[in-house]
Amino acid sequence: MSDISSILNESARALAAAFDPNCLSPGFYADPYPTYSALREFAPVHRCPDGSYFLSRYADLDRIYRDRRAFSADKKAVFGSKYGIGSPLYEHHTTSLVFNDPPYHTRVRRQIVGALTPHALKAMEPKLIALIDRLLDRIEMHGQCDLIEDFAAAIPVEIIGDLLRVPHAERDPLRGWSLAILGALEPVLDAEQQARGDVAVMEFVDYLRTLIAERRKNPLGDDDMLTRLLREEQAAEPLTEHELLHNCVFLLNAGHETTTNLIGNGLHLLLTHENELQRLRAAPELIATTVEECLRYESSNQFGNRLVVEQVEIAGTTLAPGAYLTLCIGAANRDPQGFADPDRFDIGRTPNPHLAFAVGAHACAGMSVARLEARCALLRIVQRFPTLALAGHPFRSNRARFRGFRVLPAKIGNGYGGAWPGGAGSV
Ligand code: HEM
Repeated sequence: MSDISSILNESARALAAAFDPNCLSPGFYADPYPTYSALREFAPVHRCPDGSYFLSRYADLDRIYRDRRAFSADKKAVFGSKYGIGSPLYEHHTTSLVFNDPPYHTRVRRQIVGALTPHALKAMEPKLIALIDRLLDRIEMHGQCDLIEDFAAAIPVEIIGDLLRVPHAERDPLRGWSLAILGALEPVLDAEQQARGDVAVMEFVDYLRTLIAERRKNPLGDDDMLTRLLREEQAAEPLTEHELLHNCVFLLNAGHETTTNLIGNGLHLLLTHENELQRLRAAPELIATTVEECLRYESSNQFGNRLVVEQVEIAGTTLAPGAYLTLCIGAANRDPQGFADPDRFDIGRTPNPHLAFAVGAHACAGMSVARLEARCALLRIVQRFPTLALAGHPFRSNRARFRGFRVLPAKIGNGYGGAWPGGAGSV
């Protein structure tokens, strides 16, 4: 080995050894992939300073997500110490299906998947296209925009709002509640973020209690997800009011920030990879593989978690029951053992068995909705605006779990080329 590669190896080894997900640098938020690469290579089952483990290899994540005997999704113990037992955030997250095991998980998932029918999806498409076109009309009028606020974030809130038939005039607070509740899942949380999250849970639940009472009195048609969920109250194992409320909050949250970031990250990737952008414009049928590649390359949900409940060995490390794992989807999706030339953004990549939606019993129940939104949004904007370009400095949301942009300034003509007010940096 040459001197240079041995120095590089040593510095990657040191980077992996020092990694602490509770203490991340601005450089990590800007580009976590060199750290992920070092972890995959030198510490694939990395012991963090707080005693938990951080896993980064594709094969290990794939195995863990599929094995619900040895690995539990139940986070009551973790959330009890993080939020305080009985706090609104604790009640919410421990009642959401995603942080539970059978039999509760199976019972809730059956009802949610049953309510998210292909019929409901089909009914969604024309409204989605009309919404995207209205947003694009507005962008065209101004000639410049923030691709997050004016486009990516404006889509999921309406789509999920439509699924549960939340009246349009009442949708404004949904995104703020969702950001506050999901933000509380970040590895590190200060008192103010926790307080914001608690208030958001209380306000969201109060709002939904009224909506559900109204829907009970006046049920809607078959493509209304809430009406279908309420009908399940006559089923053999109905959800309690508490379970229904918190799982509706979860549904509204699950589809928001993740899909906003998929569309935002996708736009950033296309606008910074000119060849791939031109390739998509020339062959729009590549939109399906484009969306899969955006999901892989910049996964909007970077971390998952599991608790070991049966002793297992992974990559030479013995994990005892009680070990808490962070599964780094972002690292697994760039693993050379899972993908050829993984750091290349290739919109035609097939096969592309990424883990952005996880796999196994908890695989994302809304993946078809997210895919539909991203395909329509990305294709329509790049087709309609051949001169679309970034204009100014993007701001990343400094979040490790949910990767995305907070501001992504762009222009659609040659007229505006200045920096977006606000300057460089991240918020
Ligand atoms: C790009 C967008 C999205 C991404 C990256 C994403 C990612 C994920 C991941 C990784 C999980 C598994 C979590 C785990 O096992 O620990 C999950 C679960 C889930 N997602 Fe998504 N999601 C997205 C959009 C959506 C949308 C639009 C909806 C609803 C319409 C949704 C609803 C759900 C639900 C209900 C679960 C829980 C499934 C279960 O525990 O059985 N997601 N999602």
